Amino acid sequence: MSSPFPQLTPEEAAAHIEHGQAVGFSGFTPAGAPKAIPSAIAARAEAAHQRGEPFKIGVLTGASTGPSLDGALAKANAISFRTPYQSDANLRARINAGDTRFFDMHLSMLPQAVRYGFLGPIDWAILEACDITAGGGIVLTSSVGAAPTFGRQARRVLIELNRKHPPALLGMHDIYEPADPPHRGEIPIFHVSDRIGSAIMQVDPSRIVGIVETDRADETAGYDAPTQETEAIGNHVAEFLATEIAAHRLPSFVPIQSGVGNLGNSVLSALGCHPRIPRFEMYTEVLQDSVVELICSDRVKFASTCALTLSPPALERIYSDLKFFRQRILMRPQEISNHPEVIRRLGLISINTAIEVDLFGNVNSTHIMGRQMMNGIGGSGDFTRNAYLSIFTCPSTAKGGKISTVVPLVSHADHSEHSVQVVVTEHGIADLRGRSPHERAELIIENCAHPEFRHELHAYLHMVKSGHTPHTLRAAFAFHCRFLDTGDMHGVDWESLIPVAARR
Ligand code: COA
Repeated sequence: MSSPFPQLTPEEAAAHIEHGQAVGFSGFTPAGAPKAIPSAIAARAEAAHQRGEPFKIGVLTGASTGPSLDGALAKANAISFRTPYQSDANLRARINAGDTRFFDMHLSMLPQAVRYGFLGPIDWAILEACDITAGGGIVLTSSVGAAPTFGRQARRVLIELNRKHPPALLGMHDIYEPADPPHRGEIPIFHVSDRIGSAIMQVDPSRIVGIVETDRADETAGYDAPTQETEAIGNHVAEFLATEIAAHRLPSFVPIQSGVGNLGNSVLSALGCHPRIPRFEMYTEVLQDSVVELICSDRVKFASTCALTLSPPALERIYSDLKFFRQRILMRPQEISNHPEVIRRLGLISINTAIEVDLFGNVNSTHIMGRQMMNGIGGSGDFTRNAYLSIFTCPSTAKGGKISTVVPLVSHADHSEHSVQVVVTEHGIADLRGRSPHERAELIIENCAHPEFRHELHAYLHMVKSGHTPHTLRAAFAFHCRFLDTGDMHGVDWESLIPVAARR
C-alpha cells in the first residue's frame, strides 16, 4: 500500500520549521537521531543569517546526537535552547560562549517534564523510523529516547524514514509511557527482559506533515582499543565485584548499568572475561560494542537498553542476525530505562565515569574547573542515586598528568557523598560504604590518587584535624586555582595558604 503521507525532500521538510519554534528530535546518543532534516534546518539557518534574519530553534532530544544534528545546528548558531545532554564539540563551545542556553537534567525526567509543560510547548517532533503504517504506527530505529513523548506532544510531526535500518527491527522496542500523577501506577518490570508496552509507537496520523526518505548510517564513533589505564580500571572493578559476590554482599544475579565511552567499554570487557563473575544481565541506557561480544559469547544473558550506541560493524552484526538478537536485546524509552522505581527494584550495579572526585566522595560529572560545561549529567544521577551498588571510575590524572582528578573539593557537585559508594582509578579502589569523612579521605588518597599528588592531598587533609568533614575553605580549591594560574596542579604551597593561627 502506498504511503498516505507526502514525500518531502529534506529542504522541503526544513522549510516548515520556523524561527523560535521548539523541536523534539528522536535519538539517544547518535543512535536513532534524524540526520537529513536537521542538516537542512542548519542550512536554512545559515541562509537566514546571511540575509540578516534571525533563525534559532529550541532543541530537545533524548541525549547527545551526532554531527548532522547537534553539530550542524551548532555550527550554524541555530540553537537557542538545548536540553538534556550533548557531547558535540561545536555545541559545547556555543553553550560555554553563551550562544545557546543549556538546561541540564536527569534523562529519566525529560519526558515527564515535557508532558508537565515545564519546558514549554513542542512545535515539532522529528523522528527517525525504519517503518511506518498508514495509521501513524512508527517502528523506531536504533534507539527510543524520548521519541514516544515528543511524538504525542508535538503539534506536528516529520518522519525520516531511514533505509539503513531494517523494518525487521520490529519487536526490539518496548514502548511504554507511564500515566502522570495522580494516576500513575507501578511500572510492571520485575525482570530485565519483561515487556510491558508495544513494539510500535503511535502518532496521530493527522499531525504527520511528511516523510523524508534517507539511507544515512548512525554517526556513532567507534571505540578506542583499551589502554593500560582503562584495562587496570576494568580489572579493579571486575575483581571488586567478584569479591563482593564471594562475600555474599552482592547477589550474583544483580544486573549491570555501565556508562558510555572507552572506559565503560573496557570495564564491561573486563567483567565479561573475569572467571569469578557469572553470566549477567544488563539494565542500562546505552549498549556498547563490548556487550555485543559478550552476548555472542553468552556471557551476557539479556540487555535492556535505550540505545544501540554501536560502531557500524557492531550494529551490522546485530542487523545481520536479528532473530538471535531480538531474543536478547530490548530497547526502552529513557523514562523507563532510567526509571528510579525500576532501578531500585532490579537492584543495579551502576558504573559511571567521573571528571573529578573529592576526598569525601562527592563527584563532578559535568563541569571543567567548575565553569565549563562538558556534556551533562546524562543518566549518571538516575542510576547512581538508586543503584544497589554505585561505582565511579576515572583515571587518576587528566591532561598528561597535570590535573589530579582526585581533588580536595569538587569544583561542581553532581553526585553527593551520600550516593557514591565506590571510587576506582587505575591505582585501586576506595570502598566508601560505612566510612566517615576522615576515613573516606584516607582511603581515596592512598588507594585512588596518583602517587605524585598523594603528598599534596595529605598536606591539605592535615591542615585541620577538627570538624566532621576536615575542609579548609581557604584552600579547598587550591589545586584548581594553581591549574588556572600555571596550567598544572602540581606545586601548591599549602604552608603559605593559611596562617598557622587560622588552622582550626
Ligand atoms: N579536569 C579537566 N579536564 C578533564 C578532567 C578534569 N578533572 N577529567 C577529564 N578531563 C578532560 C579530558 O582531558 C578530556 O579532554 P579532551 O577531550 O580535551 O581530551 C575530556 O575531559 C573527556 O575526558 P575523557 O577521559 O576522554 O573521558 P570520557 O570521554 O570517558 O568522558 C565524562 C568522561 C565524565 C565527560 C563522561 O563520562 C560524561 O559525560 N559523563 C556524564 C554522563 C554520564 O555519566 N552518563 C551515564 C551513563 S552513559
